[in-house]
Amino acid sequence: MFNLVLFGPPGSGKGTQSANIIEKYKLVHISTGDILRNEVSQETPLGLEAKKYMDQGALVPDEVVIGMISSKLDENPEVNGFIFDGFPRTVAQADALDNLLDFRQNPINLVLSLKVSEEELKNRLISRGQVSGRSDDTEEVIVNRIKEYHAKTSPVADYYQSKQKLTEIKGEGSVEDIFRAMCSVIDTFI
Ligand code: AP5
Repeated sequence: MFNLVLFGPPGSGKGTQSANIIEKYKLVHISTGDILRNEVSQETPLGLEAKKYMDQGALVPDEVVIGMISSKLDENPEVNGFIFDGFPRTVAQADALDNLLDFRQNPINLVLSLKVSEEELKNRLISRGQVSGRSDDTEEVIVNRIKEYHAKTSPVADYYQSKQKLTEIKGEGSVEDIFRAMCSVIDTFI
């Protein structure tokens, strides 16, 4: 079993690279952003609650997201491993994930942290917003998402660094080159 966290600010390429990694290593993809957007589109009570936060670029409360992850782990008992994309995003979430995985005796093996300049992040998200229809890809909300990242999410990198699980990857350049750099680290674990 191999459990990977793909870490980085909004627009750093977590979703893009997850798609390639899943295909190559046959891992199960858990993206909290995708799960939440699905709940929003189905107008479930959870989705209606989450939308209030997402539309402002704020994080959804920890207890909501942690509950979602716990269910996803239970739904997939026999897998090669998981790739966590957009989770954990607070130290409380990281701690909860460790507890959930320790209980299953399959801890996080590796955290890959994508490093991208703020200017590039904004450019990517603004460009995507012009075609994606994602309600949080507007200039004002993007600024809030990046602020929220610095305030609440960047400490998660220190959390994993202190456990010697974090490797930084240059997240600028071609998608293929970044993927190759990620694979060369993953291959030392698998
Ligand atoms: P989420 O969906 O997780 O969004 P995000 O982290 O803000 O990140 P994105 O999906 O926008 O970016 P990404 O890093 O995946 O980059 P991507 O590959 O898409 O979360 C949305 C919201 O849900 C949050 O704001 C929050 O409200 C809530 N939420 C989710 N998880 C939560 C949690 N754990 N706790 C609390 N709340 C939570 O790429 C972006 C763009 O760049 C694309 O257009 C792509 O084509 C392009 N691109 C990718 N790589 C490159 C490259 N190398 N060169 C040029 N362009 C590139």
